[in-house]
Amino acid sequence: ALAARFPAPFRWSAATSSFQIEGARRGDGRGRSIWDAQVEVPDWVKDGATAEPGPDSYHRFGDDVALLRGLGVDRYRFSLSWVRIQPEGTGPAEPRGLDYYDRLVDALLDAGVTPFPTLYHWDHPQALEEAGGWLAREMADRFADYTQLVIDRLGDRVHHWYTLNEPVSMTLQGYGVGTLAPARQLVIEALPTVHHQLLAHGRAVQVLRAGGAAEIGIPNNHTLVRALRDDDGAAVATYDLLHNRIFADPILTGAYPDLEMYGLPPMPVHDGDLALISAPLDFYGINFYNPTTVTQASSPGPLPFEIVPTPGLPVTGFGPEWPIDPAALRELLIDFRDRYGAALPPIVIGENGASFPEPDEAVRVQDDDRIAYLAGHIAAVADAIEAGVDVREYTVWSLLDNFEWAEGFTQRFGLVHVDQRTSDRTPKASYDWYRALIREAHA
Ligand code: FCB
Repeated sequence: ALAARFPAPFRWSAATSSFQIEGARRGDGRGRSIWDAQVEVPDWVKDGATAEPGPDSYHRFGDDVALLRGLGVDRYRFSLSWVRIQPEGTGPAEPRGLDYYDRLVDALLDAGVTPFPTLYHWDHPQALEEAGGWLAREMADRFADYTQLVIDRLGDRVHHWYTLNEPVSMTLQGYGVGTLAPARQLVIEALPTVHHQLLAHGRAVQVLRAGGAAEIGIPNNHTLVRALRDDDGAAVATYDLLHNRIFADPILTGAYPDLEMYGLPPMPVHDGDLALISAPLDFYGINFYNPTTVTQASSPGPLPFEIVPTPGLPVTGFGPEWPIDPAALRELLIDFRDRYGAALPPIVIGENGASFPEPDEAVRVQDDDRIAYLAGHIAAVADAIEAGVDVREYTVWSLLDNFEWAEGFTQRFGLVHVDQRTSDRTPKASYDWYRALIREAHA
């Protein structure tokens, strides 16, 4: 059986993020984030959703905690909203924002679920974006100050931390091609955002360590890059560099890959930056959804690759963009171990999951396709562990159907169905399936 391949102390978790579940964008001193600005751009979000009410977890976090307790997860990965805690990104804390996370943390601890927050999941203050956002080196200083406010208030009860969620998505989608906020289309000019996010990570690690944190890591999105044709080697190497290595190499080895060799500009590195960025971590977070197939670009441009649909695979609710290929996760984990060797700390799967078309109104969903997706990927993790990769935790994205960024409420990833107008929560068949798996693994 699947569960028997994961003897304790392997940990099971579920994840959400602040902007995607909290709703309540105004009030209690909350400031404006880049996502508040983005959802107000006419016709930008697919269904016009503004993330409200959605799951409304700002008011209904008690329901979330009850669902987590019922599921039997070891830990809950949620994120802190920078603009609830420090509305403009500078200056003192907003106590009402911190009070919210204080209550959530206490409720989790009462329920026997370890709080495992992410400091930042893409929703930085709009005021800081106007000062350059991640293109500005000063963002790392702001992030360190924000982290200090957080640890001062929560550090007595929260000991496990993720720093920045998926810096690759912020760089490539947020600043490179504009499919996530702040929706810039800078292509190659987006690259300094890599270094400034990694610097912010390094600064946050310092602050968290000084504040007594027990376990710190960074979750990045990683993909297995495949060639469409035999002669696509250069396209594969370049995409692998931009999606995977440009983030993982400096964190794990203290050096950027040779960017010049790929015709890319150097990173804005100052003395001491790489030592900070590569400070030892307790785990490395890998968020995995799908492999990526690339081919040589058909027309000359700054980048020598094109992303193409992976032929012959089933797909999720996103269509050909998100093929289903659990074996790619096994291969990716083994590649990581082979590539980084002893430099690789234990791995935590920080996100994995899939969306499928499901009804909007509150109903019990028999989501067999999601169960198959999760079972396949969890088995792939077991394969990797049996091949000698040190994986300690698996996290489902997501506990709840939520606001899926540019897709609004049209893509549902939850173990729990949410009616986004009433915020009613209804566990899906996958919730019961995951609960049974966890119970068996813990037995
Ligand atoms: C990840 C994000 C998460 C969610 C899932 C589907 O890249 O971290 O917020 O959107 O994709």
